[in-house]
Amino acid sequence: MELLKQKILELKKQKNAVILAHYYQLPEIQEIADYVGDSLGLSQEAEKTNAKIILFAGVHFMAETAKLLNPSKKVILPDLEAGCSLADSCPPAAFKKFILEHPKHVVITYVNCSAEIKAMSHLVCTSSNAEKVVQSIPEDVPIIFAPDKNLGNYINKISNRKMVLWNGSCIVHEAFSIDKLIDLHKQHPDAVIIAHPESETHILKTATFIGSTAEMIDFVKHSQHQKFIVATEAGILYKMQLDVPNKILIPAPSIADNTCACSECAFMKLNTLQKVYDCLVNESPEIIIPVEIAKKAILPIKRMLELSK
Ligand code: 13P
Ligand code: SF4
Repeated sequence: MELLKQKILELKKQKNAVILAHYYQLPEIQEIADYVGDSLGLSQEAEKTNAKIILFAGVHFMAETAKLLNPSKKVILPDLEAGCSLADSCPPAAFKKFILEHPKHVVITYVNCSAEIKAMSHLVCTSSNAEKVVQSIPEDVPIIFAPDKNLGNYINKISNRKMVLWNGSCIVHEAFSIDKLIDLHKQHPDAVIIAHPESETHILKTATFIGSTAEMIDFVKHSQHQKFIVATEAGILYKMQLDVPNKILIPAPSIADNTCACSECAFMKLNTLQKVYDCLVNESPEIIIPVEIAKKAILPIKRMLELSK
């Protein structure tokens, strides 16, 4: 593995490529990345890179966002099958109909959606700026929020809105078991529960802190507490533990039995170190977005980045 890592680092230099990785990626991929972050951080990094090639170690919608921000650069993804259940829960034709049924509404979409959906949106948000983005719209203006109903419900609650929600969700964050979580908390009453807002409302109700992956890591780093139950994809534990080597991190339990890896995102885990290497060698698979879609989809992303400065 060390040899492969070395080869990737050399090739990356030779080809003037940058590797952007999400926290849910395998540890060995995070180790060779130039930047590891949450969706917002990764978009901001993609916006400012001078590299010729962007290798995106994450899922398709993230690489698509990087491509929208860098139309003249080559954006490559180690496995084109690395999709997202949340993005898949919002098919463009059905969403177009939904918008037509709510003609006066501003459309805000969570970044976990396809470029085609972004092209139908006024604003995009991520889990770390959703509240800010929603609050940028006057209170009397009706809003459609898609595709994540759990994040939408959470933002409705904290911002006192009544946004119309698309009925989408993430299979990983909906797999947490509330009963097992309560049992686990009874065994560790000193642990603080932290959760990603894609989790269901009953899970979020138990959490002391709710935030994006980067915000969860930051919270654990700066908290006085020593023990945390972490309700998000298990890949986050690698970087989190590196940052707080003396604290205890316990992954939130899933509905299925203990042999199931349901708190792992199967899409994220499609990327392997070997595929990263092959992808750099071949400069493929490449993200291609039809020009007509790209022209429209970049606008709500730019608005979001402007609001996040
Ligand atoms: P973050 O932007 O919080 O990293 O979330 C991305 C994601 O896909 C969570 O499932
Ligand atoms: Fe999509 Fe869920 Fe995987 Fe995040 S964890 S990339 S929302 S399927």
